[in-house]
Amino acid sequence: MKKITFLSYFIFSFGFAQENINPTGLVASKAMVVSAREEASKIGVEIMRKGGNAFDAMVGTELALAVAFPFAGNIGGGGFMIYRRGNGEVGSLDYREKAPLAASKDMFLDKDGNVIKGKSTETALAIGVPGTVAGVFAVHKKFGSLRISEILKPVIALAERGVVVTQKQEKSLNDYRDAIIKVNDSTTLFATHFKANDTIKYPALANTLKRIAKHGRNEFYKGETAKILVDYLQKKGGIITLEDLAKYEAKWRKPLQFTYKDLKITSMSPPSSGGICLAQIMKMIAPYDLAKMGHNSAEAIQVIVEAERRAYADRSQFLGDPDFVKIPVKALLSDDYLKDRMATFNVDKASLSSEIKEGNITYNESTETTHYSIVDKFGNAIAATTTLNDGYGSKYYCDELGFFLNNEMDDFSAKPGSPNMFGLVGNEANSIAPQKRMLSSMTPTIVEKDGKLFMVVGTPGGSTIITSVLQTILNVYEYKFSMQDAVNAPRFHHQWLPDLVTFEPNTFDNTTIDKLKAKGYLISEKTTPVIGKVDAILVLPNKNLEGGADFRGDDTAVGF
Ligand code: DON
Repeated sequence: MKKITFLSYFIFSFGFAQENINPTGLVASKAMVVSAREEASKIGVEIMRKGGNAFDAMVGTELALAVAFPFAGNIGGGGFMIYRRGNGEVGSLDYREKAPLAASKDMFLDKDGNVIKGKSTETALAIGVPGTVAGVFAVHKKFGSLRISEILKPVIALAERGVVVTQKQEKSLNDYRDAIIKVNDSTTLFATHFKANDTIKYPALANTLKRIAKHGRNEFYKGETAKILVDYLQKKGGIITLEDLAKYEAKWRKPLQFTYKDLKITSMSPPSSGGICLAQIMKMIAPYDLAKMGHNSAEAIQVIVEAERRAYADRSQFLGDPDFVKIPVKALLSDDYLKDRMATFNVDKASLSSEIKEGNITYNESTETTHYSIVDKFGNAIAATTTLNDGYGSKYYCDELGFFLNNEMDDFSAKPGSPNMFGLVGNEANSIAPQKRMLSSMTPTIVEKDGKLFMVVGTPGGSTIITSVLQTILNVYEYKFSMQDAVNAPRFHHQWLPDLVTFEPNTFDNTTIDKLKAKGYLISEKTTPVIGKVDAILVLPNKNLEGGADFRGDDTAVGF
């Protein structure tokens, strides 16, 4: 399945009657995990085969990714999880990192008030208080059915046995090696020149996980692990203290729900911008007949780009951590407001981002990432996105504990209007404050159709997460692609600022791009990396599950 390429997308997606879509990804009848590494998907599936539920599998998969996919899988980062139980109940968990107590609004600025380049990404000050261990234990406490030691056993065994380096991983390790050595030293594990087919063993991480299995979540936040971590960070010039770790809690939050035609969509609410932006975009495009315009046609791209532009402008102004700022959610999602936002859309001419600002809202209301999707035989579904932010996070790798630390502090707005590493700009709502969570774009999402589970979807990709999730849902729902083809299809992206439409390289024909240029769209001419790396599951009409594992990475669907 990993061999599926853009070519097969072209072969599969044109010229077929679309009503009864043939699955092109892995099909399973009972349970499935789709994640960034086969090893992690297998561990999740084995847990379910033993009788565990999707929540047990989530704990196993998340921690297995920390072992098998150090690029983004983590215990030194954080994430978000959306769930839908077999009985239809939905919820979400926020295990996002937090700013340390000693963080301050201007911590990344020089004395003249300018952003110091690299300070929020490449120094120990970039590190937010990690949430992943608190997250998996919160899930286990509420919904787990197997013992934590049983779930962790195969994960610890994997760390001890080691993980085989793939071709893609060899490249990513090469790309980041110098940066990793720079902040650690030449004896760090990842200073080694690992090649494809080598096995990397993680004995230090295995020991950390063993202590966590024995003593529980407090081992990470208050125990020996916490002490070693704080010692390491302080030596590196970091500001995270034992108090920061001890205070960390994951939070159950009400997810964001909205409808798009006959779909009911459940996604992440703030401190992720994912759900609100996705809802705004989908509500703005709903009046247009995208199916008739054609998949990735200039007309459809135009409608989607204009909705994206407007949603990301609002993101920049209004969104932040709801525990710190009041977010006008109802107003931002109201039909009248969104209709009004699109009123300036002119089919003949691109709106310029310089002319689009956030909308007029009155505050009258009360108050390098990885995604995996899981469905179990009880009908429970989980969409979880977890991250260190950049690839290998801040690159700070605590060899004694065996894991990388995030550089999530860069997701705050260091200064109003100053772009972060994804080019996203922000404002007061997302300014830095002690204990605050930085705004995210992570969009773990569950889609229902006719009251039944339809799709579980999500992706990494920084600012492109929201638009990749959007396109994947549209590819299935509007364009009748199979799950795997929907994941394979070439993607494009717009985020208000910079005012550029980005396309995956060599995947859109020149006629389409020329049509957009003729209307005044500014097209990014740079060779861009891939946009998103989506892992999704679709429930087929006969109740089988089809996996969509992104060929852009080593992502793999496993099921039974
Ligand atoms: O929370 C966010 O929006 C970012 N920290 C996500 C970073 C990401 O997706 C990097 N992966 N490519």
